[in-house]
Amino acid sequence: MSTIQRNPVMTLGALSLMVVGMASCGGDPNSPGVEYMPDMYRSPAVEAYVDYGQDPYYFTEDKARAQRERPSAMLPPAGTIAFAEDASKAAYSMPYPYANDNDGYEAAGLELRSPIAMTEATVEQGKELYVRFCDHCHGDKGDGDGPVVNNGGHPPPGAYSGALKDLPEGKIFHVITYGKGMMGSHASQLNKEERWLVVQYVKYLQNGGKMTRDGVVASTTPAAN
Ligand code: HEC
Repeated sequence: MSTIQRNPVMTLGALSLMVVGMASCGGDPNSPGVEYMPDMYRSPAVEAYVDYGQDPYYFTEDKARAQRERPSAMLPPAGTIAFAEDASKAAYSMPYPYANDNDGYEAAGLELRSPIAMTEATVEQGKELYVRFCDHCHGDKGDGDGPVVNNGGHPPPGAYSGALKDLPEGKIFHVITYGKGMMGSHASQLNKEERWLVVQYVKYLQNGGKMTRDGVVASTTPAAN
């Protein structure tokens, strides 16, 4: 009889460890083998904008799944007004009250006034935006001769100091907002404040490249825009 006493429990334990160890190196070279607590290696990928809903343990899986399949980011309810950190700009968050039709265009022309006083600084800011968004069609001086028109294929818009000389500022704003004919809407490129700044520069061009009437323009109806 051997002097080394073998404990059958230990032997069995060692054997089963070997079996588990070998089983964990299976035939598939891409398999990570047996993982202890796989959640810690592979945390569930959380999708943005998905409502993970209520715990299926307490509610039914059906209910939880229905919630998971519905995006959680929603459009704000109708009538929601964006918060303006700067109270002096709160009026820009108000909805634009004129419809995209001829009545809206005419009404904007009669009623809508710029909330921004015309100064050299605002004309300069408007010019910067005009150069970026308008002059490739309307031309540097607003004569309707930008490169898009000169290269052919695009009908020329009227000249600001010619056919469009007396176009009121409300209509200019309306057209930038909704577009007109071949001109598309610029509402997604220019927020309302920027649109009014561009209007300053268009008015400056309407006036032949000079400040209008002592540089002063009605600026008392911020709520209407
Ligand atoms: C893709 C070329 C194009 C761009 C860019 C463009 N316009 Fe126009 N715009 C036109 C055309 C064409 C018309 C003539 C539309 C019509 O009367 O059918 C026009 C018309 C106008 C009118 C006259 C609207 C009226 O009531 O008769 C104004 C004002 C105007 N654009 C301002 C701007 C301003 C400001 C920008 C830049 C924010 C701009 N446009 C960008 C092509 C363009």
